[in-house]
Amino acid sequence: MPSKLLSLTLYSLAALTLVNLVHAADPSITFISPDQVKNIGDTAELVCIVKDAQYIVEWGKGDKPGNISERIAVESQIASADKAKRFKVTVKDTTVGESPVSTYTLQIKDVRACDAGVYECQILFLENLTTKQTRLTVQGAPPSDKC
Ligand SMILES: *[C@@H]1O[C@H](CO)[C@@H](O)[C@H](O)[C@H]1NC(C)=O
Ligand SMILES: *[C@@H]1O[C@H](CO)[C@@H](O)[C@H](O)[C@H]1NC(C)=O
Repeated sequence: MPSKLLSLTLYSLAALTLVNLVHAADPSITFISPDQVKNIGDTAELVCIVKDAQYIVEWGKGDKPGNISERIAVESQIASADKAKRFKVTVKDTTVGESPVSTYTLQIKDVRACDAGVYECQILFLENLTTKQTRLTVQGAPPSDKC
């Protein structure tokens, strides 16, 4: 009897997994903050909302759209201590209907000239990368300022 129950449980689990796989929708980015202009010392907030993304989501940064060279992970793996202090990514998970929806907010405190650039929200989905970009423009300081 217990083994019959066990196999029944295993069978249900397998069936459930199959249903989940069949219904798993493609992940998508439903919102990204529009381009923004900030002054030195301001706080900038870059928001990315993803739907059905049971995958890795990251912010990246680069100097132009085709050259996103820097990763800004959720658990700060940021190179410089300066950025670790000023950059923070927070994640808020909710569900809309059947779909998991997560909001990834990148907050940059005490904006510097070198923070200017293209920021890219990335969903890593198997071999595919789903991305959207937004630009941060910083005014009022020489771009030589180091981060
Ligand atoms: C890409 O960005 C990096 C870092 O900002 C820079 O060093 C490099 O020259 C850029 N490459 C191109 C092809 O623009
Ligand atoms: C990757 O993207 C291509 C083109 O949009 C699509 O045909 C393919 O099914 C995708 N692969 C996966 C694993 O989602």
